[in-house]
Amino acid sequence: RRPIGKAGPLAGKRILITAGPTHEPIDPVRYIANRSSGRQGFAIAEAAAAMGADVQLISGPVHLPTPPGMTRIDVETAREMAAAVDATLPADIAILVAAVADWRTADAAEQKIKKTGGALPVLQLAENPDILAGLARDARRPALLVGFAAETENVIEHAQAKLARKGCDWIVANDVSGDVMGGSENAVHIVTADGVESWSNLPKDQVARKLMEKIADVIR
Ligand code: CTP
Ligand code: CA
Repeated sequence: RRPIGKAGPLAGKRILITAGPTHEPIDPVRYIANRSSGRQGFAIAEAAAAMGADVQLISGPVHLPTPPGMTRIDVETAREMAAAVDATLPADIAILVAAVADWRTADAAEQKIKKTGGALPVLQLAENPDILAGLARDARRPALLVGFAAETENVIEHAQAKLARKGCDWIVANDVSGDVMGGSENAVHIVTADGVESWSNLPKDQVARKLMEKIADVIR
């Protein structure tokens, strides 16, 4: 399915991208979240579309406009994101940038939880599905499967372990020990079976462009 009028090194390639955080409801007015702004994922989607790709952007709750020339699907929870990824397959390439909440509440309350003056509420958690690991095992696994990893220490070691554990092709490891989440700059390491390539302190749009150029190089 080649979109009409698209040209560039990724023309005719269907690329699935997840971005942003997920929100996991506690009750109708409260949720578990994280500090992901969605900016890195949206920058990657924008760079991919600019290179001619047919981009399917699956986004958690963010405050960002949709970059030109792509399809955007908005979701809230990790389970909704997993379902949207499933419904969007097949894809030639998947880049999972989303900061998926690792846990949800086992049972979100149907009504707002009230202060009782007595015992404190206890949040019972359940683990969310691992979308990346699931995609790696799927019969429709994209030919190139890229994960992201935000780490605060031992960045490359953790990324190498994640690459093996999740069965993806590349991990883009993000050093978040500084002020990266929500910020505009980003130090990243591209960890593959062949080794590690490091890019220091590039703005997120340049990380996006370099990553998409590297992808275009291996995919053609
Ligand atoms: N990921 C996912 N589904 C999840 C959790 C993570 O698809 N439920 C994806 C992220 O989008 C990212 C990669 O897996 O591409 C790594 O996420 P990360 O949170 O670093 O990995 P975890 O296995 O959750 O490990 P950690 O304990 O460090 O959070
Ligand atoms: Ca995690």
